[in-house]
Amino acid sequence: MKRNIVLFFLAITSRIGVAQDINIIPQPSSVQQKQGRFIIKRTTPIVAKSPEEIRSGKYLNAYLNKYFGFSLPIKTSGSAGIIIKANKDAADSYVLEVDPKSIKVLGGNATGAFYGIQTVLQLLPLEKNGELSIPAVSITDTPVNKYRGLMLDVGRHFFPVADVKRYIDLLALHKMNYFHWHLTEDQGWRIEIKKYPKLTSVGAWRNGTIIGNNPGTGNTNTRYGGYYTQEEVKDVVKYAADRYITVIPEIEMPGHSSAAIASYPYLSCFPDKPTIDYVHKKSVWSGDSTGKQVIQAWGIYKDVFCAGKETTFQFLTDVLDEVMSLFPAKIIHIGGDECPKSNWEACPNCQKRIAELGFKTDSSHKAEHYLQSYFVKRIEQYLNGKGRKLLGWDEILEGGLAPNAWVMSWRGEKGGIEAARSAHNVVMTPNTYAYFDHQQAEKEDSVTITKNRKHLPIEKVYGWNVYPDSLQQEYRKYVQGGQANLWTEYVTNPGKAEYMLLPRLAALCESLWTAPAKKQWSDFNTRLQVQKKRYSLWGYNYYGK
Ligand code: ACM
Ligand code: ZN
Repeated sequence: MKRNIVLFFLAITSRIGVAQDINIIPQPSSVQQKQGRFIIKRTTPIVAKSPEEIRSGKYLNAYLNKYFGFSLPIKTSGSAGIIIKANKDAADSYVLEVDPKSIKVLGGNATGAFYGIQTVLQLLPLEKNGELSIPAVSITDTPVNKYRGLMLDVGRHFFPVADVKRYIDLLALHKMNYFHWHLTEDQGWRIEIKKYPKLTSVGAWRNGTIIGNNPGTGNTNTRYGGYYTQEEVKDVVKYAADRYITVIPEIEMPGHSSAAIASYPYLSCFPDKPTIDYVHKKSVWSGDSTGKQVIQAWGIYKDVFCAGKETTFQFLTDVLDEVMSLFPAKIIHIGGDECPKSNWEACPNCQKRIAELGFKTDSSHKAEHYLQSYFVKRIEQYLNGKGRKLLGWDEILEGGLAPNAWVMSWRGEKGGIEAARSAHNVVMTPNTYAYFDHQQAEKEDSVTITKNRKHLPIEKVYGWNVYPDSLQQEYRKYVQGGQANLWTEYVTNPGKAEYMLLPRLAALCESLWTAPAKKQWSDFNTRLQVQKKRYSLWGYNYYGK
């Protein structure tokens, strides 16, 4: 009897011992624990043959080297060790079989194999010393959503290439597959365009930045800026592609374009009207306030690209040509959000265009909204002619959606629902669930967007389902997935970026990867405690230490 009790307790404790080291985020489709463990020795081979399999093998090696101080030999054949195999299926799925003899990562395709390796990383111990072993387990896994994205605004604050790569590393570690790079803003143009050098010699720099919440209590009075050369952009795109992440560039138009206008004033409806006339009277300005300037405060600005002049479209298509040569993504984001129409209402060129096209204000829209729709449709036609799709914020619905446009729904879910119901592809990124510039803590001592106490706790992100309740089943196929956005008005450095991102990114990735029926907060929260230890191991800052 005594012996039985001892055996019973041994059985329980060993079960717990095993259960504790399977804490995968995002939760896979199915996980079955098995008996035993696979011990990774320094002589354990990685077996990989195709270039993609070898790339995933090298990624695993780089990880082992970084955190455990050694790497493994890579062989092209064998049945023992860590075997990486990628098929050519459509879905980015994988099967992971671990037993005491081998770790088999069987990707439905190369992307799936990479995700299988990500799961292997999460089975590794957190301690750097001691035996490197992982539990025997059988996992099958397929993401629910095709588009799992994260945006970084480098316009309000600039993040050098090394920081962008660290950000992309985080995406990879969470099985995310789209990096939306918000490259142009009122406060800075961040991408080198060879045909328009002033975009970066002028537009990438501002003479100061407001201090504190908009409109600010003062100004840093320090010149601020930066930009990515085309070589750097190519390097980032490749770095992401090596991690099965597509980079979607965003070039904002027709609004959020003050930095471009500061570089080339002819792009404005009123080239001679100084920028300062458009700035909130309470914003403290630094330096030259004559002529066109790069904006130093936050908000929405009324000096936008003129929709009446052909030279605007020449400029934009030239810029997009260079952008398309750098980004192989099928989708190009053209912004489209928050474009005030007051300049267009007063501009002779814009009004001439409105008259020529016969746009009239009616019960649903102003004539200027139809002009914005014309603007976006024209750009879409250009992109489609080059084999790309246009993606824009949900304002592009106003005045009529361009025929093939994808819509990014940010003002809640309404725009996404409308677009899906009219058979347009949608990426959901509602500011109610997916705005990571909103504070994680109810009480937060660092400066964030505080108007209306914008508080987005991780529980809420975890509870997000990209399919709005009211969206009928037949339209759900248009919802490609979701994304969170990190706007950086109040995010001045990578440590703060990580603090805003983590650990909410863990909840986001599970909301996007795992079937809603399989999600359970308490179970996630247990796994999250281990994920936080991983963040420490990886050297990332996070909220809730
Ligand atoms: C946005 O937040 N203006 C897209
Ligand atoms: Zn105009």
